[in-house]
Amino acid sequence: MYHSKIKGLGYYVPENVVTNEDLSKVMETNDEWIQERTGIQERRHVIRGEDTTTSMGVKAAKVAIERAGIAKEDIDFVIFATLSPDYYFPGPGVLVQRDLGLKTVGALDVRNQCSGFVYAISIADQYIKTGMYKNVLVIGSELHSTGLDMTTRGRGVSVIFGDGAGAAILSREEDLSKGILSTHLHSEGQHAEELSLIAPGMGKRWVTDIIADNDPNDESYYPYMNGQFVFKNAVVRFSEVINEGLQANNLQISDINMLVPHQANLRISQFIQQKFKLNDDQVYNNIQKYGNTTAASIPIALTEAWEKGKIKEGDLVVLAAFGSGFTWGSVIIRW
Ligand code: UT7
Repeated sequence: MYHSKIKGLGYYVPENVVTNEDLSKVMETNDEWIQERTGIQERRHVIRGEDTTTSMGVKAAKVAIERAGIAKEDIDFVIFATLSPDYYFPGPGVLVQRDLGLKTVGALDVRNQCSGFVYAISIADQYIKTGMYKNVLVIGSELHSTGLDMTTRGRGVSVIFGDGAGAAILSREEDLSKGILSTHLHSEGQHAEELSLIAPGMGKRWVTDIIADNDPNDESYYPYMNGQFVFKNAVVRFSEVINEGLQANNLQISDINMLVPHQANLRISQFIQQKFKLNDDQVYNNIQKYGNTTAASIPIALTEAWEKGKIKEGDLVVLAAFGSGFTWGSVIIRW
C-alpha cells in the first residue's frame, strides 16, 4: 500500500478579462450586485476559436508535468474533469492523450461538475494507493463562456462562471505519513435538476430533434441554477464533508493550515471560514479574479496558493467541493 502526493501543479486562464462593467453592457446587471452577492470582480472568457476546454487543460498540464520533474512518458493514466467538454463524445481525456503525445495510456472523463476535481483526485489516489499506477495526470478545465445565456434572462448564472484550467500530477509516495490521507465523496441525485443543463442530452432527444429544433428561446440549452437552494445546501455539505475528513484522520479544525474550497461564491467561503473560525491565512480564495470555474476552480486556487508560498511541506491542506448533482467531497492532504 502506498500514498499519493501532489508532485506538480499548474494552471492556465485565458488572457481576456471580462469585468462586471463589461457584463452590464450586455445585460441588466451591475458591479455592486455581483460583488455584494458573489464577491466576483472579473472573470476570464476565451477569445472564441483560440482555446477549448482541452487546449486549456493541456496548457495547465504541461506546467504541472514540468514542475513534477517527470517526463510525459512517465504518466500512467489521465483523468479529466469537466462539465464543458469539446465534444459531446469522446470526452477530453483522449484528446489530452493525443495532444500531449502520450503513449496509449488510459484516459478517463469525470462528470461531476464543481466536485469534479475532488472526485478525480480521489480516483487517482485509489490507483496509486493500490500500486496500479505511479503517476496520474489529473485535469479540471472549463469553457463556460460560449454556453452561457448572456442576456438579462440568464444573468443569475452567467455573471458567475468563468473559463480556465488547472492540473496536478499525483505520484506514488512511500512515506505513509505524507500525501493524501483520505478522500470523501457524496451525491444526492434528488436535486439533480436544481443546477443543471438539460440539453443536449439523450433525455432531451425523446421530446425534440436536437439538431433541427435548437430553439434559441428553449432555456433547457442554458445552465439553470436554483441559486438560493443551492447556496443553502452548499454551506451545509461543505461543513459536513470537511468535518468528515478531519474526523476520519483524528484531526481537529485547528490542525488545518490551508483550506482550498471550490470557488462557488465568496459568501459561501466566508460562511465556512467564520463557522470554522479560520483566519484569512487559512483559507484561499480567488473567485474575485476568475469567477466560478467549476472543475477548474480548486486546481487553479491550489496552484496559486502554492505559488505564493502559502502551502509548505508538512501542512495540512483540505480541499472541499460542492456542486451540481448534487455532489460534494473533500480531500485531506499532509503536504
Ligand atoms: O458552483 C456550484 C455551486 N453553486 C453555488 O453554490 C451557488 C449558490 N448560489 C449563489 O451563489 C447565489 O444564490 C447567487 C449568487 C446565484 C444568487 O444570489 P441570491 O442572493 O440568491 O439572489 P437571487 O437569485 O435570490 O436574486 C435576487 C434578485 C432577483 O431580483 P428580484 O426577484 O428580487 O427582483 C434577481 O432577479 O437579484 C436579481 N438578480 C440580479 N440582479 C442583477 C439575479 N441575478 C442578477 C444579476 N444582476 N446578475
